[in-house]
Amino acid sequence: MSTAEHGPNVTVLRHPLVQHKLTLLRRKDTATGEFRRLAREISLLMAYEVTRDLPLETVEIETPLERMEAPLLSGKKLCFVSILRAGNGILDGMLDLVPSARVGHIGLYRDPQTLEPVQYYLKLPEDVGERLVIAVDPMLATGHSAAAAVSRIKQAGAQQISFACLIAAPEGLRVLTEAHPDVPIFCAGVDRELDSHAYIRPGLGDAGDRLFGTK
Ligand code: URA
Repeated sequence: MSTAEHGPNVTVLRHPLVQHKLTLLRRKDTATGEFRRLAREISLLMAYEVTRDLPLETVEIETPLERMEAPLLSGKKLCFVSILRAGNGILDGMLDLVPSARVGHIGLYRDPQTLEPVQYYLKLPEDVGERLVIAVDPMLATGHSAAAAVSRIKQAGAQQISFACLIAAPEGLRVLTEAHPDVPIFCAGVDRELDSHAYIRPGLGDAGDRLFGTK
């Protein structure tokens, strides 16, 4: 599942359901409602993989028939952080799987002069330092806003962060990994390249516009 091809901290989800749904998502004829539904389904499946190493503890419970020792999640609780606005399109699927998770939001835009990411919104749970944070954005393109978002989340006290996206460009993987080698990256596909407008090729177009029907 983890492909050394893209670095030791990059996991590409090769599950047939994920790959099938990603293909449907990419198609230009996929309309907004269907796109949204597919993004939600893929992200639910991704959440399954992203949370694979969560620690368990054994507790004693009572079934209708007898007492038993059974596993329950222990230790760190989860916090999803959506990188606005497209991150919201893969947040709901993750929340379907982990409804008790807390949710943070971060908004960044690129300053047209300096080309640096500028934060315009940040709201994280107060106890983010005690949670496993999963930052989500469907497209890891240049990697600059993802790296900046992870830096801000670390500044807020987070100790353990993963990053999940649907499609990554090789450039984005490189930038995010160099800036944050401690952050595991999960994606459903690694595409060929970025074009001169920073779109991932072949990609799926503008994820935000396709999710929200704004174009
Ligand atoms: N953001 C998108 O929505 N699509 C891309 O291809 C790159 C960044």
